[in-house]
Amino acid sequence: MHPLHLRSAGTSLVISTHRGEAEITHWGADLGETLPDLAILNEPIPPSAIDANVPAGLLPQASSSWQGRPGLRGQRITDGVPGFDFSLRLRTVSATADGTAAVVVQSDPDAGITVTSNLTLHPGGLLELRHTANNDGTSSFQIDELATMLPVAPDAVELLDLTGRWCRERHPQRRAIQQGTWVRTGRHGRTGHDSSLLLAAGTAGFGNRHGKVWATHLAWSGNHEQFADSVADGRTMVGGSELLGPAEVVLQPGGSYTTPALFAAYSDRGLDGISEAFYSWFRSRPHHVGAASGKARPVVLNTWEAVYFDHNLDTLIELAESAADLGVERFVLDDGWFRGRRGDHAGLGDWYVDETLWPDGLTPLIDAVTSRGMEFGLWVEPEMVNLDSDIARAHPEWLVGPSALSHKDGGRLPLGWRQQHVIDLVNPDAWQYIYDRIDALLSENTISYLKWDQNRDLLEHGHAGRASVHEQTLAAYRLFDALRTAHPGVEIESCSSGGARVDLGILERTDRIWASDCNDALERQTIQRWTGLVLPPELVGGHIGPTTSHTTGRTHDLSFRAITALFGHFGMEWDVRSVTGAERDELKRFIGLYKEHRGLIHSGRMVRADVPDESLMVHGVVADTETSDAGTPAGATAALFAVVKTRTGFAELPGRVAVPGLDPLRTYRVEAIFPAPGDADYGHTFTEARPAPWVASGAEASGRFLGEVGLPMPVLNPEHAILLRFTAL
Ligand code: DGJ
Repeated sequence: MHPLHLRSAGTSLVISTHRGEAEITHWGADLGETLPDLAILNEPIPPSAIDANVPAGLLPQASSSWQGRPGLRGQRITDGVPGFDFSLRLRTVSATADGTAAVVVQSDPDAGITVTSNLTLHPGGLLELRHTANNDGTSSFQIDELATMLPVAPDAVELLDLTGRWCRERHPQRRAIQQGTWVRTGRHGRTGHDSSLLLAAGTAGFGNRHGKVWATHLAWSGNHEQFADSVADGRTMVGGSELLGPAEVVLQPGGSYTTPALFAAYSDRGLDGISEAFYSWFRSRPHHVGAASGKARPVVLNTWEAVYFDHNLDTLIELAESAADLGVERFVLDDGWFRGRRGDHAGLGDWYVDETLWPDGLTPLIDAVTSRGMEFGLWVEPEMVNLDSDIARAHPEWLVGPSALSHKDGGRLPLGWRQQHVIDLVNPDAWQYIYDRIDALLSENTISYLKWDQNRDLLEHGHAGRASVHEQTLAAYRLFDALRTAHPGVEIESCSSGGARVDLGILERTDRIWASDCNDALERQTIQRWTGLVLPPELVGGHIGPTTSHTTGRTHDLSFRAITALFGHFGMEWDVRSVTGAERDELKRFIGLYKEHRGLIHSGRMVRADVPDESLMVHGVVADTETSDAGTPAGATAALFAVVKTRTGFAELPGRVAVPGLDPLRTYRVEAIFPAPGDADYGHTFTEARPAPWVASGAEASGRFLGEVGLPMPVLNPEHAILLRFTAL
């Protein structure tokens, strides 16, 4: 069989089958039309080794003597005895491709297993890979792991992945690739605050805009593993898999299991090239919201840090009036509106509007919001339940636990988390109750938006005494899907104690993620930079919080908070009734700036300069309407950049920083548009007595000059930022 060759946006993927099993022969730079006979790549056989070449298979297997992580681990259960067919010998049955998509079928007829692999190389270069294992045998077959993985080139010597915790999600960590396996395991039953949104291998010192990078993301919101597996023969695989609990997937004869999708991108221009591949894929989805869909992302006011659980109709109407005056376009009523919910200890599961607080239902508030031209959004947490709730009292058997005995009959409950437990969505009655309640709320009220929260890990998560994170994750997905089908106009935000459910599995069915409960702009700069590695800014909620952050106690000027929120889906989470005078005028200006530039921010290329001074971040968005042959953004008619000072710098002067991503052939006018002389924050922002002339009065230069020589950066005070606009002349 001829090799399959998929090509797109500078990336090639070659799948060959000449050795019997399918293998990825190349994933990386575009190889052009013509390939040699790929037998040229057959490895030598080293001393004291197996008497055959060892392919790095599409599903690496022990029967070929692959010594690393196998693609499929499983066992047949015959007459109730497990452990049979533990080693498969998959051989290619068919392999077809149409230029950008391939289907490879491999089978082991003796073991009664067939695996179909679907690979699509999307137009922006993003690869999507899934395997489906089918049990062709006459007894059941237990899948212990079905992994999706890809080989990286030998010059990938460093690894970058992300980790975090509540209020500090998605921070990078780096290490050298050495022999052995680097595994990031998520056992939270949800994606997790510490989950690595991306696992990237690259050439030495790869950065924002230089070096070759091979990166993978696993689109799954349950238990999972992501890994870089470097075996003794020197080859390295990167990939991931769903982490299955004991006997979570047992295929009956004819049954099948499909892996979560592994998304993968290759870039020869650093991490920004990886982001471009992901952004291009997101923006091509039919249901994607943002500039491309023609529906601008509305300015949000979320009530959480404004009033918390203190829901009072008069206060909320005043807040809505104040928000409307500022130019807010979507008002989101957060936690605290439903039966018994006066704090975080009670009420979850009772999805009825609280009659004591809202005798006339939500209608008076919704009317106050919509009559002022704003959309109304509502917070829900459908997968959770408090013990102190009518539903937990009525249906204790719907609470998840490890025991075969229901909680009603004395079965053990997992430890509480924020005084809450998980409702067993695998139970069809529980699922239907939740569906009916959320459906009723959406049908009976004018609600355009749901903030869908999930505030705990799934610990000791079982259904009828057997591990069930896998089934619960699928049941939650079905709930999202069914509600979206029934209410297609309603947008959904994925929130999970801040940013603990951020993955492409949940984003297939939601329209925004809440990146973090931390609204401190300094922390947010890092959280948003690394979330933005994969997610375009229109999908990442960013709010201006109170002057003194509720989660860190830091105090920041409005301009720093606003410039930070601007590079996302912008909003506020603040009692804006208290914002008066010059500060209110400044806030209005920022809302205006967001409205003026959201088309650019939500459609352009994200650009992050490689700045040697670690106290300085320079990032921006360049308009991207088309791409020239040279790969430069030919449509780069405008750009918006932020220069962010995180702490004091080492040197007296920060020096020149090249502004990348502009069109070298165009001339630009650069202006520092915020803060300007006369703005309240101006004096706090600049340390220097005599700012660089270009900051005060603007300047003109070519994209080539700006990209190669750059601009002398201003001496900024720590925890301050300025906003720059580049306009092509
Ligand atoms: C956690 C979320 O991340 C917050 O934004 C807020 O919605 C609270 N839950 C409400 O309980």
